[in-house]
Amino acid sequence: MIKAVIPVAGRGTRLLPATKSVPKEMLPLVDRPALFYTVQEAVEAGATEIIFITSRHKPSIEHFFNPDPELESLLEKKGQEKALHEIRKVTSLASYHFIYQEEPLGLGHAVGLAKNLVGQNPFLVLLPDELLLSAPSVSQSLVQSFQKTNQSQTAIMWVSREDTSKYGIIEGEKRGDLFYIHNVVEKPCAEEAPSQWALPGRYLFTPEIFDDLENLSPGRGGEIQLTDAMTKLAQKRGLWGLPTTARRIDTGNPLGYLKAQVEMALQRPELKEPFLKYLSDCQKRHP
Ligand code: UTP
Repeated sequence: MIKAVIPVAGRGTRLLPATKSVPKEMLPLVDRPALFYTVQEAVEAGATEIIFITSRHKPSIEHFFNPDPELESLLEKKGQEKALHEIRKVTSLASYHFIYQEEPLGLGHAVGLAKNLVGQNPFLVLLPDELLLSAPSVSQSLVQSFQKTNQSQTAIMWVSREDTSKYGIIEGEKRGDLFYIHNVVEKPCAEEAPSQWALPGRYLFTPEIFDDLENLSPGRGGEIQLTDAMTKLAQKRGLWGLPTTARRIDTGNPLGYLKAQVEMALQRPELKEPFLKYLSDCQKRHP
């Protein structure tokens, strides 16, 4: 039994104008919001409680995960069993909590708000705009790997030198299958990056991270950075990197969003064949 924190309070500026009125996490991949896949990953890794750090500008997230008795009775009356089953599945996957981040002060600030609800146990953090495709999922692997160290863990992924400026990058040493982390640098340029091991947005923290998140001054970009707290955690208590070869798609920009759409469509048996045929026809029409 584990809790998962999913921060969704950012403004999603890279997907404007759509995200002016629709949260990026609620943009659909095929027929369910992108955020649903993140919740599913957390639940499959053992999470029974999901803590969303959300914004008052995003009421549709709560609406999606909370029961809607009116809609359910309408579907019952109309005999739409399949749709009824689908929406009940969403509401019964886990218990959901919503904490408001009044201003998007940074990812570190967002995670810190979960302190009281998380309590004294280790917890997962999943960034929903990072789609990580692998079996078992990266969150499942983190939960498994935690048994070995009983210390905080983050997934790490090898990236090209040119891409280090898009991620948190670790400095650490390999110990067995894991990396022992000394330091985490937020979005360093290629020349300053201490390695090419990047953070793809999946973490399993012990609650001590909350002490390191408290009183943190704004870091890079004027935001309260989770990576700054991770450095403190690494230096005081231990933080491990678990390498992953999962395929990563950043769904928070137009090309990434399109790629995620294609991937999720191809995972649906009833859509795969006609959709592939359509894509191949598209390629012929747009050589
Ligand atoms: P991002 O920086 O990728 O998301 O944060 P963003 O700020 O919404 O997107 P852009 O860059 O403006 O397009 C990673 C995750 O952390 C959440 C975001 O909602 C996203 O899921 N986040 C970020 C918060 O919840 N609060 C914050 O203060 C910052």
